[in-house]
Amino acid sequence: MDELLRWRAEFPILERTVHLINHSLGAMPRRTRDRLNEFADVWQTRGIRAWEEGWWDMPVRVGDLIGRIIGAGPGETVMHQNVSVANALVLSCFDWSAKRNKLVTDSLNFPSNLYQFHEHAGQGMRVARVPSPDGIRVPLDRLLDEIDGQTALVSISHVIFRSAFVQDIAAIVEKAHSAGAMVCADVYQSAGVMPVDVRAWDVDFATGGSVKWLCGGPGAGFLYVRRDLWPSLRPKATGWMAHREPFAFSGEPIEYAEDAFRFLNGTPGIPALYSAMSGYEIILEAGVERIRAKSVTQTGLLIEMAEEAGFRVVSPKAPAERGGSIILDVPHGYEVTKELARRNFLVDFRPGAGIRVGPHFYNTNEELQLLWREIRTVLESVVAAV
Ligand SMILES: Cc1ncc(COP(=O)(O)O)c(C=O)c1O
Repeated sequence: MDELLRWRAEFPILERTVHLINHSLGAMPRRTRDRLNEFADVWQTRGIRAWEEGWWDMPVRVGDLIGRIIGAGPGETVMHQNVSVANALVLSCFDWSAKRNKLVTDSLNFPSNLYQFHEHAGQGMRVARVPSPDGIRVPLDRLLDEIDGQTALVSISHVIFRSAFVQDIAAIVEKAHSAGAMVCADVYQSAGVMPVDVRAWDVDFATGGSVKWLCGGPGAGFLYVRRDLWPSLRPKATGWMAHREPFAFSGEPIEYAEDAFRFLNGTPGIPALYSAMSGYEIILEAGVERIRAKSVTQTGLLIEMAEEAGFRVVSPKAPAERGGSIILDVPHGYEVTKELARRNFLVDFRPGAGIRVGPHFYNTNEELQLLWREIRTVLESVVAAV
C-alpha cells in the first residue's frame, strides 16, 4: 500500500491528467485556492493594516517553511521572486574587482545563472566554467581542481536541470572553504523531492524556487544565507526593506538590518507567498525522506521501461546520482511531447536532452505505464506522418 497516494485527492488536476511534469510545474494543491481567497479577503477588509498584521514579515515567515524543508534554522531563509533575483543578490555581495575574483561553475548550470556570470565579466569576474563531457555529469575532480586561492564563489546546482545529475555539495563546500571561497547551491531541482540539508553541507548560500517539486506556484523563490556570514555581507542589490529602520526612510548609505531582512530588497510579492504555502505544508506532512524513497523507485521503473523499449536514458542510472526526473532520448521528442499534452499527458522536452519525466509523490505506477503506452502510440503516428 502506497501511503503517499492519499494525497492525490488534494491535487485536482490528477483527476483528468497524467501529470508527470513535476520537475517543471508541480500540481496545484486544492487548498491553494483558499489561500488566494484569504489574501483577497485580508486586502479587502484590513487594507493597509494587513502589513503589520502579517504581510510585513511574510518573506521570512514563509521562508521558515522552506527552511524546514532544506535544513535551515528559523529566520534564515527569505523569499524572493525567483532564483534569478536571489542569484543576483548573492553576486552583489562580492567585490568582483578585487584580487580574489574567480567564480567557479559548470556548463550545465541553469542558463539564468550562466547569463548573470557572463554579464559580470565586465565587472572583473573571471568565470571558470567546468565542461561536461557527456552532457549528463560534471566531473567532480575537475570542478574541485578549479577551486583555488583566487576563487571567491563556487556556484552550482545540487541537481542539474538538464540531466537530473546530483552533485556532491558537501565535497564542493569542503574544498571551497579550505581555499577560502564560498559556495552557492541552487536547490531548485532537489528541494521537495530529495533531502537537502544546507546546514549539514555547511553551504554559504542556497537559492531555489517553488514552481516545481514544492507545488508552490510561480513568484516564490527563496534565498538561504549562512547566519555567521550575515554581518560581513553587504548586498548591492538591496532596497528599503533591508534597512534596519525601514520606516525612517533615511538617506544613504543603507544601514543593513541585522537579521535576514538584510537580504530582502523591495516590496515582496505577497499573493505569491499566500499561494506557495500550501505546497510547502503538504511536502512537510508527506515527508521528504518518504517522497525520495518513492521517487527512486518510480524513476527506476522509468529507466527499466525505457531500456526495454530500446530508448537511451540521458540521466544517471545509479539511484544516488539521479534526482527526481528521468530524461529519455525519444525520437521526434518535441512533436511527441506536444501530442502527449493534447492527450492529457504532461511531460516536457528540452533541446539537446530529450523528454523529461518527473513523477512526484502523488503519482501512481500505473500512470508511468500509461505514459509509456501513450509514447509508443504517439510515436507510431508521428513517424507515420513524417
Ligand atoms: C536549477 C534551476 N535553477 C533555476 C531555475 C529557474 O530560475 P528562475 O527562478 O529565475 O525562473 C530552474 C527552472 O527551470 C532550474 O531548474
